[in-house]
Amino acid sequence: MEKLSISDARNPEVIGTRAVIQGWVRTRRDSKGGFSFIEVNDGTSLANLQIIADNTLENYEQEIKRLSAGCSVSIEGEVKESGGKQATELLAAKVIVHGWANPEEYPLQKKRHSFEKLREWAHLRPRTNAFGAVARVRNCICQSIHDFYQERGFLYVHTPVITASDCEGAGEMFRVSTVDPENPPRGDSGRVDYAQDFFGRPSYLTVSGQLEAEIYATALGKVYTFGPTFRAENSNTSRHLAEFWMIEPEVAFNDLDDNMDLAEAFLKRIFGDALTKCPEDMDFFNQRIDDTVITTLQKIVESDFIRVPYTEAIDILLASGNEFQFPVEWGCDLQSEHERYLTEQHFDGPVILYDYPRSIKPFYMYVNDDDRTVRAMDVLVPKVGEIIGGSQREDRQEVLESRMREQGLEPEDYWWYVDLRRYGTVPHAGFGLGLERAVQFVTGMQNIRDVIPFPRTPGNAEF
Ligand code: 4AD
Ligand code: MG
Repeated sequence: MEKLSISDARNPEVIGTRAVIQGWVRTRRDSKGGFSFIEVNDGTSLANLQIIADNTLENYEQEIKRLSAGCSVSIEGEVKESGGKQATELLAAKVIVHGWANPEEYPLQKKRHSFEKLREWAHLRPRTNAFGAVARVRNCICQSIHDFYQERGFLYVHTPVITASDCEGAGEMFRVSTVDPENPPRGDSGRVDYAQDFFGRPSYLTVSGQLEAEIYATALGKVYTFGPTFRAENSNTSRHLAEFWMIEPEVAFNDLDDNMDLAEAFLKRIFGDALTKCPEDMDFFNQRIDDTVITTLQKIVESDFIRVPYTEAIDILLASGNEFQFPVEWGCDLQSEHERYLTEQHFDGPVILYDYPRSIKPFYMYVNDDDRTVRAMDVLVPKVGEIIGGSQREDRQEVLESRMREQGLEPEDYWWYVDLRRYGTVPHAGFGLGLERAVQFVTGMQNIRDVIPFPRTPGNAEF
């Protein structure tokens, strides 16, 4: 017999079809008329399918009446028009129980648990409405990301997860090594000799695929990466993960304005797709998590992003009269309180800040004629703060080399990166979108740990 997903079985067009649905019981209750109502969910939609199981079914007393939340079932029957709030229901002809879930022990009984508690049950939380909805919206965003770039002729490039270079220069990298920590090989100085390690040099998990994406962009034009990235920063915030996914487009012959245009079109596309392709899940977030998410996304899709130079943003912050925890002055790195003031209070919408001081940005950003600022850009959105970071890249060999030295890097260590400027250099630009920050923004979920299936944060790597 044909299998039907619950999402398909809810479509009135299939009324009259005989099919099998398979999933996990959410609730079961007796009805006066001598039958049971069973609510089943299979993850294909937020809503359950209601099953009518008559007491004449052969396993009614021994099995069907014992069904409780978490039990897995296959149910054969006919899709009928429903008198309830759903359009359809299934009249069961046969109920097969695959697995029981002892109601005395199963943690996801009726009682609602906090998101903090559910983090302890990362193996069960996708069975809840909220985590099912997050998983579907996250999937929709990923599809939309690929659609956006593929439709525009970008090539999807796989950059390495293991690398020897520190792209962001922040030194927040996880070491990848096979040396025996109890008895490492040592050089003459007594220090660990990584020349004898697996890769013959110190190696790490990547913080960004950008440098390698630049290699492909300066050969193939328009590329993007989409992969896991790692940061060993010890920040226990609601917006930081030690392992997260980043999308990094890189485009030859683009300048900073082109880069901003691309970032704006990109965000509008994924926000718009979430609204049109996941309406049921988005309604759920709007009702249960944050009653502004839908209107906020709609407004963003329809309006232009404000673009403001860093210097002007500093003036706005200074003129705000706000007491910030971190003092504001030209040259300071913006803290999340500053970013949030700008995007939430001052502009009340997405803002692209650009032309940051050179001293607070990595070596690869293009130095402006004023010699004090670089062609950097950050896209800030309400509640989440920085969602995208990017720049036009330094394409002049001498300037790049001097910027590297200025930041304590040896151009020889990045000889291949310098070569891109030595041979056929071109203006080019790109940025990185943190996937989880995007999912957080779209769903309104407050903690980034609840929008990735298995969050990696300081002290947490159990599942
Ligand atoms: O601003 P970042 O550090 O930029 C780069 O890595 C550049 N190499 C990107 C490029 O130009 N190709 O990171 C980019 C984005 C941030 O704006 C944020 O959305 C996300 O990655 N991000 C994090 N997300 C979760 N947890 C963390 N610890 C993150 N750090 C950055
Ligand atoms: Mg950044």
